[in-house]
Amino acid sequence: MNLPNINDARKRTDKKTEYIYLDKDYDKNIFNGKKYYLKTYGCQMNVHDSEEIAARLESIGFTKVEDLEKADLVILNTCAIRENAHDKLYGFLGRCKHVKTSINKDLIIAICGCMAQEENVCNFIKEKHPYVDLVFGTHNICDLEELLINKDNNKQNIEVYSCEGNVYENIKYNRDSKFKAWVNIQYGCDKFCTYCIVPYTRGKQRSRKSVDIIKEVEELVKDGYIEVTLLGQNVNAYGKDLDGELNFAELLQKVADTGIKRLRFVTSHPWDFTDDMISVIAKNDNIMPYVHLPLQSGSDRILKLMGRRYTKEEYISLFNKIKENVDNVSITTDIIVGFPNETVEDFNETLDVVNTCKFDSAFTFIYSPREGTPAAKMVDEVSLEEKEKRLYELNDLINNYSLLNNKKYLGKVVEVLVEGLNEKDNAKVFGYTDTMKLVNFEGSIDLVGKLVNIEITDAKSFSLDGKIKE
Ligand code: 5AD
Ligand code: SF4
Repeated sequence: MNLPNINDARKRTDKKTEYIYLDKDYDKNIFNGKKYYLKTYGCQMNVHDSEEIAARLESIGFTKVEDLEKADLVILNTCAIRENAHDKLYGFLGRCKHVKTSINKDLIIAICGCMAQEENVCNFIKEKHPYVDLVFGTHNICDLEELLINKDNNKQNIEVYSCEGNVYENIKYNRDSKFKAWVNIQYGCDKFCTYCIVPYTRGKQRSRKSVDIIKEVEELVKDGYIEVTLLGQNVNAYGKDLDGELNFAELLQKVADTGIKRLRFVTSHPWDFTDDMISVIAKNDNIMPYVHLPLQSGSDRILKLMGRRYTKEEYISLFNKIKENVDNVSITTDIIVGFPNETVEDFNETLDVVNTCKFDSAFTFIYSPREGTPAAKMVDEVSLEEKEKRLYELNDLINNYSLLNNKKYLGKVVEVLVEGLNEKDNAKVFGYTDTMKLVNFEGSIDLVGKLVNIEITDAKSFSLDGKIKE
């Protein structure tokens, strides 16, 4: 048994990242006929990790089911970013326990992802959820086949490493889409924003080698993929941990040169956003004019307490520079309200930035203390009720600007990559513009995976409606 340890997870040594090129194949008959149910919580990184988990399970004979009650193995790939992620997991675990006790006593229940990296979570699972068979972390997904093959059926198996992490290459993915792909360029984070658990759950910043990234994107282009999103907790810090490697602007240019039709990247940190990046985005038509640029707070006092490394003024000036240089760019953001002891004045500074930047949209959150982070130790005098009030006020303002920005699209013709059928109305499909606006329009399933020109006929806060432009 290997339990996670927050002190080890916090450590950053000068140990060089190891690059491990995987080459082991497993016998497909090992779990032949067995079925897995995989549930993913959280960010794109987890979604992409689940594509790896699926490929690993299928390489040893598992096939996927959508019905928990038919599964032999259930894997819950968890998120730790806010406390409500925990509540969701424990709620779903109750259902799994019920299936195990009343339908299939041999059901294997496994938990992985960011919550598995938390010391308190593992202890809680050990004490209160002994029917969970296997817990593994973000650093040992690559051992999943071995973990399942060697699992001791008579005890709970917890294998979670709290380490800085390595980089694995030749990973196989069972991608959810045939036209849209995630490509990791960088793992972990060294920013240690004081509220954030990611540097503890995902390890130190490790960049993949650019040659391996380019090779992966070239293969995706060859396989007919239309859109690639470069992924990392801090994508634009790419290369900073590697001597002689490209920087993010240079990498972006090289990836654009592969000829992929649509190139995106998430998530950028304002502190690492360079002028070179802006000019590369501006000059390449296949780099989408869309930037997700987390603000977190508009108050210099709070930004400092958060350890964000920029001021309100610096954020706004970067925002304006991107807007001035990249044609038709849309910019979205993340904002946390109610960081410990945020005053009304601090909150008004955030509203002020929103009024200045008029974001295309924003993800807004109430601050959630994460055990082990510096902010969790701060005594907080602000009530939850007050924080909720601020969140509603902020959301109202954000939604007004989203609608105003969306209205600018009325009557325009935009290119949309069609992603699927509209769930509520099967005569419609949905997709995204280059600027990441969700568009619904009448169309059939054969349009999925295609780029089509759509004339925008209606604008709402969260989506656009349109019709096919002949
Ligand atoms: N509480 C609330 N929101 C958080 N985020 C990260 N950590 C916390 C936390 N402890 C938000 C940030 C980040 C987004 C992914 O989640 O806004 O950008
Ligand atoms: Fe967390 Fe992002 Fe800050 Fe890294 S840069 S610590 S992932 S909020």
